Amino acid sequence: MNKPASSPPLQQYFTEVPPRYDRINRLMTWGLDQRYRRRMAKTIAGSKIRSFLDIGTGTGDLVYQIALNDTVNSIRLWGLDFSETMLEKAEKKCMPLPHSPVTFVHGDASEMPFDDESFEAAGIAYAFRNMMFMNTQTHQITGEYYRILKPGGIFYALETSQPAFPPLQWLFHTYMVLAAAFLGGLLSGNYKAYRYLAWSTNHFHDRKTIEKMLKEVGFIQVRHHPVLMGMMAITTATK
Ligand SMILES: C[S@@+](CC[C@H](N)C(=O)[O-])C[C@H]1O[C@@H](n2cnc3c(N)ncnc32)[C@H](O)[C@@H]1O
Repeated sequence: MNKPASSPPLQQYFTEVPPRYDRINRLMTWGLDQRYRRRMAKTIAGSKIRSFLDIGTGTGDLVYQIALNDTVNSIRLWGLDFSETMLEKAEKKCMPLPHSPVTFVHGDASEMPFDDESFEAAGIAYAFRNMMFMNTQTHQITGEYYRILKPGGIFYALETSQPAFPPLQWLFHTYMVLAAAFLGGLLSGNYKAYRYLAWSTNHFHDRKTIEKMLKEVGFIQVRHHPVLMGMMAITTATK
């Protein structure tokens, strides 16, 4: 598979998002994307925080799950994304939530429209790779993750990862080419975007590189928790 453009036009990809975006994701991952999003959401909802920002919120799946699990704290939830198409879907999804209202904000993660130390925790689900890999603004974005957190605040990132066992890594990478680049492209009609998804997943940084990148902007206690035999991971870091 050919390498896509060195800095892909992400905003365009996510603005031309297909109408069946959520369904294509569930299909490609056999619903496992949602399982680990739910797991991270449960941890966040149970962590006694009062404010949370979902960075690259997309269709709002993470904040939606946090709101469903937050029966005690009434966490103030925010979702940021630079795609208005995605934010419209997120608003629609979260409208019927009985409590924990979510505020969606249009903006870029490299220059977030929030004051320093605004949130007790922040997180990101499946948008971390978009921001940390093949992105000319990576350093600025990680700096923003740090800036908007209160001291002691925790940053959570759920993302694809590289399985340590080589045959499993090979299987995973082959699956990404078949399921994402071909099937995702076919179902969405947007081959470029799904080819980028497969390429960036298969070449994404290892845990040591991610730890270094987060520590460079000041984070401490960076922890990597592999799930699904290392095909995905939840990374946590503390300000
Ligand atoms: C793969 S989707 C993931 C969406 C969602 N978090 C989820 O769990 O499904 C990545 C999202 O990140 C957003 N995104 C990527 N780079 C961004 C940036 N620099 N600033 C704001 N949003 C960004 C995209 O618009 C897209 O909605």
